Amino acid sequence: MQYKYEKEPLDYSDLASGRVFYSSPGYPAFPVRLASEIFQRCVASRETIYGDATACTLYDPCCGGAYHLSVVAYLHGKHIREIIGSDIDAKAVALAKANLGLLSIAGLDQRIGEIAKMMEQYNKDSHKDALKSAYILREKIMTLDQEHPLLTRVFQASATKSKTIMKNIKSKSVDIVFTDVPYGQHSQWQGLNSKEELSNPTWLMLDALLGILSSSSILAIVSDKRQKVSHERYQRVEKFQLGKRQVVILKPI
Ligand SMILES: C[S@@+](CC[C@H](N)C(=O)[O-])C[C@H]1O[C@@H](n2cnc3c(N)ncnc32)[C@H](O)[C@@H]1O
Repeated sequence: MQYKYEKEPLDYSDLASGRVFYSSPGYPAFPVRLASEIFQRCVASRETIYGDATACTLYDPCCGGAYHLSVVAYLHGKHIREIIGSDIDAKAVALAKANLGLLSIAGLDQRIGEIAKMMEQYNKDSHKDALKSAYILREKIMTLDQEHPLLTRVFQASATKSKTIMKNIKSKSVDIVFTDVPYGQHSQWQGLNSKEELSNPTWLMLDALLGILSSSSILAIVSDKRQKVSHERYQRVEKFQLGKRQVVILKPI
């Protein structure tokens, strides 16, 4: 796969997981360069296919700690109006709330206070670096806020249950779905009971999402190469592979 947008690897250390953003064991962090590339491909497809370049509502139904959502917000916030995350796991939801909270000045000021306190206690270089990064992120959010404030929301739900999703998200309101579904090593699909459900969770998720998609929506599904990412109500826009991951970009028909 060739990068179309993130052609050169940049220094993303201000956005590193566990530096300013919160991390927790068992909640994998998504590569920043790839997240940025995928999001920009979605924005470009939305513009080419539908002629829609307005700021989007971005949703991840398997958000984990919302690391890639937060990173994408810092890098491409001007294209985003609202960010919604959901996950089946209550701990992931709490971590996602903490990370998406860092997209506001109040959240960042609180984080700056936490890091400053750690610096006082332990005087470590890593805390000094984190404090520097936190101020850089604060500047970015200040600039973004002047354009438009970024709304964020997190709730607990299974990505395969349309009823709970529809209770929390207005119908036809989501423009971009960007999700990194569970694939083995660090996370497994949960909440699936029958053999039939377990055989194609991604199909179930795509089915559950149909009601909330706007008329100019694009979906990017990241998974391992074994998972079949297809559904009769969606058309594939593009597919590429990078290492162990496959990325499928779709549009509803
Ligand atoms: C690969 S992780 C996502 C990590 C995320 N991209 C990030 O950058 O922080 C996949 C997530 O899917 C969640 N998950 C598993 N089964 C689910 C289900 N049925 N519905 C919603 N989320 C589920 C797991 O709890 C896990 O947090």
